[in-house]
Amino acid sequence: MTAMTDARTAAVTGATGFLGSRLCDRLLAKGWTVRGLSRPTSDRGDLEGVEWYVGDLSDRETLRDLVDGADAVFHLAGIGLWNAGPETVWNVNRDGTERVLEACRDGDTGRVVFTSTAGTRRPPVDADLADETDVAEPIGAYQASKAEAEGLVDRYADTGGDAVTVHPTSIFGPGDEEFTAQLLSMGVDRTMPAHLPGGLSIVGVSDVIDGILAAYEHGTSGEHYILGGENLSYECAVSRIANAADGTPARIRVPATAIRAAGPVAEAVDAVANRRMFPFDRQMADLATQRLFYSSRKASEELGYEYRPIEDHVPEAMEWYRTEVR
Ligand SMILES: NC(=O)c1ccc[n+]([C@@H]2O[C@H](COP(=O)([O-])OP(=O)(O)OC[C@H]3O[C@@H](n4cnc5c(N)ncnc54)[C@H](OP(=O)(O)O)[C@@H]3O)[C@@H](O)[C@H]2O)c1
Repeated sequence: MTAMTDARTAAVTGATGFLGSRLCDRLLAKGWTVRGLSRPTSDRGDLEGVEWYVGDLSDRETLRDLVDGADAVFHLAGIGLWNAGPETVWNVNRDGTERVLEACRDGDTGRVVFTSTAGTRRPPVDADLADETDVAEPIGAYQASKAEAEGLVDRYADTGGDAVTVHPTSIFGPGDEEFTAQLLSMGVDRTMPAHLPGGLSIVGVSDVIDGILAAYEHGTSGEHYILGGENLSYECAVSRIANAADGTPARIRVPATAIRAAGPVAEAVDAVANRRMFPFDRQMADLATQRLFYSSRKASEELGYEYRPIEDHVPEAMEWYRTEVR
């Protein structure tokens, strides 16, 4: 049996990303040996102590070297429609996951923890919260490719592999130039006067890292765990961030009707805020007007997962935002 004092080895895909770099930091601090996948072009930041494996998710040989002999494979690499077209999104999220699993199957590896998204679940019409059983019809290439990747991970677990899937909700923390920077700008930045009408589950990045590690230690193979945070309307989230950061919250709620009528949220919000927010299509625009709230009860009961209020995460995120974004 693997000793609990960490002389263990982790293989991390997405190690150069917002979430993955924090996971590497945490594993290194706990005494793990950490192997990270890095593309030749990746910004490795100030991560010291990671053994880098250079290649990408299409490079089977690098993936085999990365995972062989690892006690844990944390597969976080992924891409969204912010940064790539649908074809690349499918290639990275679905095909990349397939290649990681093939490498694990061929090699000597411990548990795979796959980071998907809560977006593959949605609350049913008659319920306030979604849980792991509320599998939704995917909207867009990101959700669809993640849903298919989840199916591959489930099959891997069903056929003798050891794998769990975690589903973070919207992750808030320093280093995230997309969601976190937008939310902070809505909370503290006078040039961003508008916020969205819907609601969401916001989880601090350090809580997600705890959840990923707990899924590795205590999860049941083949199972899925939502790693969520507080369920908040945008209005409430923005005003709580403003209070915690001593800022001026966005005052105007972009009307849901404007968003639905305009289709791409970017158009509706651009008009009010003079700044780009979400580059999504009509269905995504509709989602932004809904309350996408999630239950983390299963993770709490089975993994001991806990999340903290958003105020606990604001100081570190603000420090980053003030020094590196604005
Ligand atoms: N952030 C959230 O709110 C959120 C919520 C739910 C789920 N997730 C999931 O959590 C995971 C991590 O998200 P994140 O926010 O940390 O994203 P991120 O900052 O964009 O990081 C993505 C990582 O994937 C790597 N990557 C992308 N394409 C690759 C390829 N072809 N080959 C190898 N590596 C590749 C990136 O490498 P480079 O550094 O070279 O770009 C980077 O290390 C993703 O799977 C995402 O879907 C995120």
